[in-house]
This record gives sequence, structure tokens and C-alpha cells, in this order.
Amino acid sequence: MISSENLHFYVSCPPGLEPMLAAEYKTLGFVRVKLKKDEDNQIIHTIGEDTGGMEFEGPLEHVYLANLHLRTASRVTVRLGDFKAITFAELRKKASKLDWGKYLLPGQKVSIQVTCHKSRLYHSDAVAERVLGSIGDHFSASGKKTEQSAEGQLILVRLVNDNCTVSVDSSGELLYKRGYRQAVAKAPLRENLAAGMIMASGWDRVSPLIDPFCGSGTIPIEAAMMAQQIAPGINRSFRFSTWPTYNKAVWNEILDQAKKQILKESPPLFGYDRDAGAIEMSKANAARAGQKDHIQFICQAVSLLESPAPAGWIVTNPPYGIRVSENKDLRDLYARFGSIVKQHFSAWHVSVLCNDDQLITNMGLQKPQKTIRLMNGGISVKQVICFL
Ligand SMILES: C[S@@+](CC[C@H](N)C(=O)[O-])C[C@H]1O[C@@H](n2cnc3c(N)ncnc32)[C@H](O)[C@@H]1O
Repeated sequence: MISSENLHFYVSCPPGLEPMLAAEYKTLGFVRVKLKKDEDNQIIHTIGEDTGGMEFEGPLEHVYLANLHLRTASRVTVRLGDFKAITFAELRKKASKLDWGKYLLPGQKVSIQVTCHKSRLYHSDAVAERVLGSIGDHFSASGKKTEQSAEGQLILVRLVNDNCTVSVDSSGELLYKRGYRQAVAKAPLRENLAAGMIMASGWDRVSPLIDPFCGSGTIPIEAAMMAQQIAPGINRSFRFSTWPTYNKAVWNEILDQAKKQILKESPPLFGYDRDAGAIEMSKANAARAGQKDHIQFICQAVSLLESPAPAGWIVTNPPYGIRVSENKDLRDLYARFGSIVKQHFSAWHVSVLCNDDQLITNMGLQKPQKTIRLMNGGISVKQVICFL
């Protein structure tokens, strides 16, 4: 039996995708945590704010579900505890009382990441050293030494207004790494950003979807997985499987359930790119994701694009000058893309990710229905969504 104890866990996502993450958690039936305030009305758990993620409350099973199913998530961390700490001695003593045994075996290697904000303890290396010491204190009876290693269990320590929150990572590799994308073309989108873009576009998961600038195929592959209800984490492992509290039977049940919900059919899905190498990579990635027969990848420049169906969704991130086609004038490309869209896709929804308002204007589309601000590889971008 899995413990029925409620945990607080935090799911992070790329900034801008919070509404999509919120829509996803609703379908899983998760409960959001309300923000706590201290006696001075300061927010204690600033990580509960809706920027770059949100906090939930539920049994350990929900941590498994979140890792497996949330397409827009980057990482799921479980809060081990929080306390006030204004001296290093207080920090070490209070941290040693946390229930480390749920997540670590004595002597297990850890990787401690610290952030300090408006706190008397502001030296992050010194804080990490004390937390490491506190884990050693906790397991002192075992006689085993706790050491730091980059591959160890990630521990996140956050000091805000002298309040220390300690969390443990349950994901391991970041969740956008689904395992299928080993070949990458230039400037690939992270898988969770591609999934969030598709959700934001309003795609109904049954209509055709095309990406005319598909690169390594991330958008059509994510769309195929969404249409077939394939959990994004179905082919990967997670850090929680190393925890002493890990319940293999419950995990297997969750995994079996996820496999049972998979549908066999997808709507027509297409990826185009003028670069033959990119199309080869897309095909290899799609094959690894089990989507070889569900997506047509075609080597073709956008100037030759024709509509494969009367209506559907275009979801794409064309080159926008910072890393792909740097120093080239992209205005003509966007103008050409815009005129093709107006000519051949008049009943389609169009969703374009770009960092440059001028390039979007060059497409000559009608006023966007919706604009979402996102970050892609550290670059501020906009997703512009139109219905022609
Ligand atoms: C920003 S990348 C797309 C990345 C993709 N979303 C991924 O996740 O890998 C833009 C792509 O547009 C392609 N491209 C550039 N000009 C094109 C054109 N005129 N017609 C079709 N594809 C073009 C490039 O080869 C590149 O792969």
C-alpha cells in the first residue's frame, strides 16, 4: 500500500505555459496548494506563485502521475519541509530533523542547489555545506558519509525572507526529455514547449495539424502523442524509483493504466522542412517515439506548401534570426508564408512562435486572436494565434 500522507509538490514549467499546466492538472484531478503567509503577511512559499510552475498537494501517487502525464512540466519536486533559519547552527539543526529517510538511503550521494533571497543566510555555498552536514547528522547512526556528486539525488534549498524550504527532485532528467529526440536539427524546441504551444493553439486533437518548418519534428511528434493519449513519460525512468518509499506495484498499476488509455488512431499530421537532413532527423525521432506511421514528413520549402485538408491547424516555429538563418533577411520568408496561408489555408487556425513582431506583421494576417509570451532557450518569444 502507498502511504496516504499528503505531500506538497511543486511542478515547474517554462514561463508562460502556466495556464496550460493548470488545464493539465485539472484533468488529473490534482489539488492546488494555497499560499501561506507569515505573521508579517509575507508569502512564505514563494514557489507557490504561478510563475514558472505551481504547487499541489496529494499522496505520493500524484507525484508519479505528474511525472508521467504532465506534458508541459519541466520537473516535479516534493517539499520535505520548511522552517525559519537565521544562523547556520539553526539551519543545520532544523534541517537534520527533516525526514530524509523517505528519499535517501544512508550514504547516498546528493547534489544540493541553493538560492537565497532577502535572507540573513545569503552565502549559497555555505548553506549547501550545512545542509550536507545536516543529512550526515540525520544518518549518523549508520556510520555512512553523505557526499555531493552532480549525479546524486537533487536537493533544492530555497531561503526567502529567512524561511528555508527544502525540496527533493522526483524527476531525474528534466521532463521535456521524453527519450525520443536523439537527433536534433538547428534550434529545436523543447518537447514541453512544443506541447504547450499545441495546447495554446486550441487544437482539438482530431483535426489535421501541420508544421511547415518542422526541424527535428518536435511539434508533429508531440501532437501525435497527444492525439493517441500517450503519456509523455511512458518510455523513461524517474528519480523517484530510487527512493526508499518507492512503491513498484503502484507505479506498475499507473503505467498499465496509461498504456490501456492509448488510442490506435491519429488525425492526419504533417511535418515539412526544406532541409533534407532535418526531415531525416524528424523521421528517426518519430520512429523512436513509435510515431513513424502516424506522421508524414516531407522535404519541401514553404513556397510549395499546399493544404492537405479543407481545415485544420498550422502550429509552427519558423526561423527567427537569432540562431537559425542569423543575419539573413527573413522578412520575405514570412511574407511568402503569410500569402500561402491566406491563399491555401483560409479555413485553418494558425499559430506561430516568433521573437520578432515585425516578422509576424510581415505575414499580413489579421489581428491575432490571442498572443502568449513564452521563453524559448532563454529568448523571449511570442506565440501568435489566429483563425483565418
Ligand atoms: C526554428 S527551426 C524549427 C525547429 C523545430 N520546431 C524543432 O523542434 O526542431 C526552423 C526550421 O525551418 C526550416 N526552414 C527555413 N526556411 C525554410 C523554408 N523556406 N521552407 C521550409 N523550411 C524552412 C529550417 O531548416 C529549420 O529546420
